[in-house]
Amino acid sequence: MLEAKNITKTFQSEGVQTPALRDVSLSLGAGEFVSIVGRSGSGKTTLLNVLSTLLAPDKGQILYQGDDVTGFAPKRLNELRNRDFAVVFQFHYLLPYLTAQENVLLPFMNGLGPVGREEIARAEQCLERVGLGGKGGKLPGHLSGGEQQRVAIARALVKQSTVLFADEPTGNLDKGTGEAVMDLLTDLKDDGLAIVMVTHDENYAQRADRVVRMADGAVLS
Ligand SMILES: Nc1ncnc2c1ncn2[C@@H]1O[C@H](COP(=O)(O)OP(=O)(O)OP(=O)(O)O)[C@@H](O)[C@H]1O
Ligand SMILES: [Mg+2]
Repeated sequence: MLEAKNITKTFQSEGVQTPALRDVSLSLGAGEFVSIVGRSGSGKTTLLNVLSTLLAPDKGQILYQGDDVTGFAPKRLNELRNRDFAVVFQFHYLLPYLTAQENVLLPFMNGLGPVGREEIARAEQCLERVGLGGKGGKLPGHLSGGEQQRVAIARALVKQSTVLFADEPTGNLDKGTGEAVMDLLTDLKDDGLAIVMVTHDENYAQRADRVVRMADGAVLS
């Protein structure tokens, strides 16, 4: 369903070139859960960002449902991302002055149409799905770290995406809370969502269908 073919990405800053991805290929089946592990600096986040089309590769192709999206115009790429892709970061980027429910509704405010009763009901449904039913009115600052991360996941779910990209979703959580987030991701996978998750935790990585190992900008296995 999603395939990266021979991806190369080199960052340039202040005259220094850093090769982040060297000829990386990876494929993700519909509903498949893949985890990506590797040392700090091995290129995991870069690969996730290229796969989710947030970052354009220097060379190579990203095929999504048969289309080479690297050739898409920015507008079309935006639409695709809005519709089908959901992203959860290590630091969840909730807006602190919006309630949990309003944060979950954000994707609807990004060109997906007006926010009406239906969208609000859907947001509440997603908050319930992540175990936060009834907490929609709270501000992020009044929720625990794990609860905030689950709001971010609810926000990712509100659009009924086909792929969820998560960069160390348990990275700043304690063990118990991290487990709860992992249980949630596994449930979502069981419901048919494809997931690409970057993690430093070998135990969490093993909960995916497949573990991809990276070193020095390349995929090992
Ligand atoms: N915007 C950038 N500008 C310059 N170099 C970058 C940029 N982003 C990443 N890099 C470099 O690219 C390489 C891969 O970085 P990346 O963030 O993909 O690693 P990572 O595997 O996610 O590491 P971590 O586990 O620490 O998050 C590193 O050498 C990093 O310093
Ligand atoms: Mg990273």
